[in-house]
Amino acid sequence: MSKKPVKKEKNEVETTGHSWDGIEEYNNPLPRWWLWTFYATVVWALIYTILYPAWPLVNHATAGLLGHSTRANVAAEMARFEDANADIKQQLVDTELADIPNNPELMSYAQNAGAAVFRTWCAQCHGAGAQGQQSGGYPSLLDDSWLWGGTIDEIHTTISYGIRYNDESRFGDMLAFGRDELLSPEEIDQVIAYVQQISAQDHDQELASAGETIFLDNCASCHGDDGTGDIAVGAPNLTDAIWLYGGDPETLHETLQNGRGGVMPPRGGAPADVLDEAMVRAVATYVHSLGGGVAEEQ
Ligand code: HEC
Ligand code: HEC
Repeated sequence: MSKKPVKKEKNEVETTGHSWDGIEEYNNPLPRWWLWTFYATVVWALIYTILYPAWPLVNHATAGLLGHSTRANVAAEMARFEDANADIKQQLVDTELADIPNNPELMSYAQNAGAAVFRTWCAQCHGAGAQGQQSGGYPSLLDDSWLWGGTIDEIHTTISYGIRYNDESRFGDMLAFGRDELLSPEEIDQVIAYVQQISAQDHDQELASAGETIFLDNCASCHGDDGTGDIAVGAPNLTDAIWLYGGDPETLHETLQNGRGGVMPPRGGAPADVLDEAMVRAVATYVHSLGGGVAEEQ
C-alpha cells in the first residue's frame, strides 16, 4: 500500500493513493451543492443555538436570545385558561349542590370539567365509562343502586372524604363472620341460602328458612330487616341483581368468611392541590348525571 497520491493519465480522476489488493480510491471532490448545503446547516445550527435554548447546563439550558420556552408557554396558556374559568368555578363553589342542575350554563361546565376529572382521577378504578369492576369491588356509578347515597351532596361527601381511608372517611364494617367465628360454617351456609332467596336466586329452601333467623339476628342491623341495605353504613342492598363483589355461591362464601372493606381514597387519589373544591363539585355533578343519581335524600 503506497501513500503518495498518484496522478493518472490526463482526464482521469486522481486517486487517494490508497490501494488495497489492487482496488484504488478516487479522490473526487464533493459535489458543490452538497457542500453548500452542509455549510448552510452549520450556519443555521450556530444561529439557532444563539437564538433558542440549546446548550444543556445543570437542570436547565442556555435560554437563547429570543427567550423562547415551551414550558413558559404552557404555563401561560394554563393561567389564561384558569382566568377564563375563574368566574364560573367560583359560581360552582357558591351554588348549592342540589341547585347546580337547574342552571344550564353551570351544569354544562360542571359536566365537561367533571368528565375530564373523572378520566384522570377515577377511571382507573371505576372504569372509563364508570361501569365499575366487580372483581375489585369497584362499584358501577351508572345504576341507581347506591352504597352511600346518590344525591349530588352524598356523592360529594363520598368523593371528598373517601371510604374506609382515614378517620374522616365514610365507614361501615362487613364483618368476617367465618374467620372471626361469629357464625359456624353451618350457619354461614344457611344465611347464604337466605341471601340467595331474597335476591331471587336458586337456593336450598330448608337452609334458607334456617338462615332467615340468622339474618335477622346478625345482618339486619346493617342490611335492614328486608335486606335492602343502609346507606348510613354503606351496607349494600342484597335483594337486587346488582352486586358489589358478586352473588354467586363462592363469592358469597368469601364475603361471609373473610368480610369486606372496600377502600376509596379521598378525592379519588388526587393530591389536595390538584382537585380543588370546584373540581370535586364538578365530578360529583358529573357522576350524578350519569343516570343513576337520585334527586332527594332517601
Ligand atoms: C383507588 C380506587 C378508586 C379511585 C381512584 C376512586 N374510587 Fe370511587 N370507589 C372505590 C371503591 C373501592 C368504592 C367502593 C367502596 C365501598 O366498598 O364502599 C368506591 C365508591 C365510590 C362511590 C360510592 C358509590 C356508591 O354506590 O355509593 C362514588 C360516588 C365514587 N366512588 C366516586 C369516585 C370518583 C368521582 C372518583 C374520582 C374522583 C373515584 N371514585 C375514585 C375506589 C376508587
Ligand atoms: C356492621 C354492619 C354489617 C353487618 C352486621 C353485616 N354486613 Fe354485610 N356488608 C356490610 C357492608 C358495609 C358491606 C359492604 C362492604 C364493602 O363495601 O366493601 C357489606 C357487604 C355484604 C355483602 C356483599 C354484597 C355484594 O354486593 O357483593 C354481602 C353478601 C353481605 N354483606 C351479607 C351479609 C350477611 C349475610 C350478614 C349477616 C351474617 C352481614 N352481611 C352482616 C355491613 C354489614
